[in-house]
Amino acid sequence: MRSLGDFRSGRPGSYPDQAVYAEYACAELGLAFADIDGGTGLVFSVASTTKSIHFGAGRCSWYPQNNATASTLASDKYFTNKILERAGVPTLGGEYFFLHQRHRAHRPSGHERENALEYFRKLGVSAFVKPLLGSRGDFAQALHGEAALIRYLDEVARYYDSILIQPVVSGIEHRIFVLDDEVAYSARKYPPFVLGDGGRTIRDLLAAHNEALRSHGLSPAAVDGDASLDIVLPSGARWEIPGRMNLSAGGTMVLETPRPELAAYALAKRAAKALGLRVAAVDMFTELTGDPHAMAIIEVNSNPSIRLLEQSGRDDLILKIWRHTFSAMGLLGV
Ligand SMILES: Nc1ncnc2c1ncn2[C@@H]1O[C@H](COP(=O)(O)OP(=O)(O)O)[C@@H](O)[C@H]1O
Ligand SMILES: [Mg+2]
Repeated sequence: MRSLGDFRSGRPGSYPDQAVYAEYACAELGLAFADIDGGTGLVFSVASTTKSIHFGAGRCSWYPQNNATASTLASDKYFTNKILERAGVPTLGGEYFFLHQRHRAHRPSGHERENALEYFRKLGVSAFVKPLLGSRGDFAQALHGEAALIRYLDEVARYYDSILIQPVVSGIEHRIFVLDDEVAYSARKYPPFVLGDGGRTIRDLLAAHNEALRSHGLSPAAVDGDASLDIVLPSGARWEIPGRMNLSAGGTMVLETPRPELAAYALAKRAAKALGLRVAAVDMFTELTGDPHAMAIIEVNSNPSIRLLEQSGRDDLILKIWRHTFSAMGLLGV
């Protein structure tokens, strides 16, 4: 039997993870994988003897067992909060605002740029701000002071049409991956960091870090102008970058159970169910603002990457998730 590594080897960095995993799962489960784009992995089919379905990379859903309505509700961080709050699931709250005049006639009043400033002041001119439909931590950052918000709105308006503004909170961050009534795995997220080489300053190391993010289409790390950035970081020393902890933004994820485990799992499952998702990566803070029992959902991902499992050698879990997908689509067990 070929291992997952065999399916990965020789692929360019741009080759979609999910095409690697699907091909591996097909080999394990006796299904036929066929690339239909000359080997790019961008569009492919998976077939049993009686049925065939297609998958696409990029913004396509990798989890056809999630219906389109549930997935799009989860992609909107405000809709998600409304639905979760109704189900008694704590969220980080917040209000949404539009950055362009386009489509103004389609929306209720109170969601324009000037309203964003008013709300920001209400929060004490300090808030966590993110694109309403964002992902991978792009432009997800804390902002302090009106000037910072105005700069942010101008910059983000080039890429997104709306944002969510919410209070800045602190806690221990976990991702709980829910598969119907089960938790497939959970991981703790740690902040990104730059690693000292004994020669470069933190500022220089951050510049290199930001350049790598930019080439992946991600906003730079948000670090306040601070004199301490000019110190040379000793070789091997880590300097943690505050804010977003996304894996895509250089964060680290480690398979680790949350505390309190059962309560966190129950909350994650409740969130997935409320949104109508069969597959969901529920991101939450535990120990919210230092209270060991307080938890809140950050967001719910309906199309989560599972690269962490490959990096952690958990091919078994990748297979479990794809078995669920294939079974749900009638490619297995019928
Ligand atoms: N209100 C907040 N206060 C503090 N940190 C936050 C807050 N909201 C999000 N974060 C951090 O930013 C990251 C990205 O935010 P998230 O809402 O998950 O957006 P994205 O869809 O870009 O991942 C989170 O994983 C978390 O580390
Ligand atoms: Mg997120």
